[in-house]
Amino acid sequence: MKKLFDYFYDEIDFKEIFKHPSRWFGYSFLLFFIVIFALGIVFLNNLDNFYKNTAPYDEPDSAKLFKDVELRLGKKVEGVKLEEIKNPNQEMIARGQELYRTTCQTCHGESGKGDGIAGKGLNPPPRNFTKSDGWKNGRTITAVYKTLQEGIPGSGMTAYDFLSPRDRIALYHTIRKFASDFPPLTDKDIAELDAAFRVTQSYELPANIPIGKAMEKLIAENNPKVLRAQAIAFALAKSEFSRYVSDPKAFASFLLNVQNQGGILDLMISNIPRNGLSPKFIAATENEKKEFTNKVLSLSMN
Ligand code: HEC
Repeated sequence: MKKLFDYFYDEIDFKEIFKHPSRWFGYSFLLFFIVIFALGIVFLNNLDNFYKNTAPYDEPDSAKLFKDVELRLGKKVEGVKLEEIKNPNQEMIARGQELYRTTCQTCHGESGKGDGIAGKGLNPPPRNFTKSDGWKNGRTITAVYKTLQEGIPGSGMTAYDFLSPRDRIALYHTIRKFASDFPPLTDKDIAELDAAFRVTQSYELPANIPIGKAMEKLIAENNPKVLRAQAIAFALAKSEFSRYVSDPKAFASFLLNVQNQGGILDLMISNIPRNGLSPKFIAATENEKKEFTNKVLSLSMN
């Protein structure tokens, strides 16, 4: 009986092939076929990437770029004394220089010549404090204060109204040092400043609450369930069982969603730790478990 192998040998004359290696070329189509086939599989597997953009789209969500108001406690802003305005003490002078260096220098330059790096290319250019001409609001203390209050519309000079009156007056004193011919500061100027901006009067800076936080509070105040959950969470955290509760808020909302209070113990244990209960509870004695269950039932029924 002829073996399969022999048929093979009959078909391909290996002796001939080895004698004339160029004959191998005839068989290279097999290799081509295999390569093309493999490429085809790769191609099909990657069809999505070739034709569709399956790479995750990671443009930031602009809704989350919103900058909220910062949380700030209200405080009393002390008025500036007339005497301090006229003869600033060391502290005020140092404060003015510090503020100038950190906020104004990039545009107005180290020596006030309007040659700071960030001012290059600005039209109009930053004011050169060493020169007397070109001032739009002017060089009196009231004029400089007004510039900081409102900015110069249509220029790179924005308002610095978030600076306290004391800081703005300190900046005025810093700026005036840049020029030897700065107009003297008279009592009349100071009276004018106070009449216009009431800088000597103390005032209350109101507290700020971030909008996101305020909405959270509003929702809680208007949603009895959230309020109850908060009350339960609070009571649990204060109770002798607090060691069993790792996340009082999560546990309180779990409690409020329990439908069948009969099987509550099993339910509590089988949902640890997702329900805010600590795994320590599993190791509690039967008695403790019962007490805890009674406690939470009484809380969630109130
Ligand atoms: C982004 C650049 C920039 C910064 C930062 C900047 N300024 Fe200016 N400032 C300008 C430009 C520009 C002008 C000129 C506006 C014009 O001529 O209309 C100007 C003008 C002024 C003037 C002259 C107003 C007038 O009467 O003409 C004063 C005073 C002044 N700035 C003070 C300050 C102080 C103080 C600070 C820091 C708290 C500051 N600037 C920060 C760009 C800047």
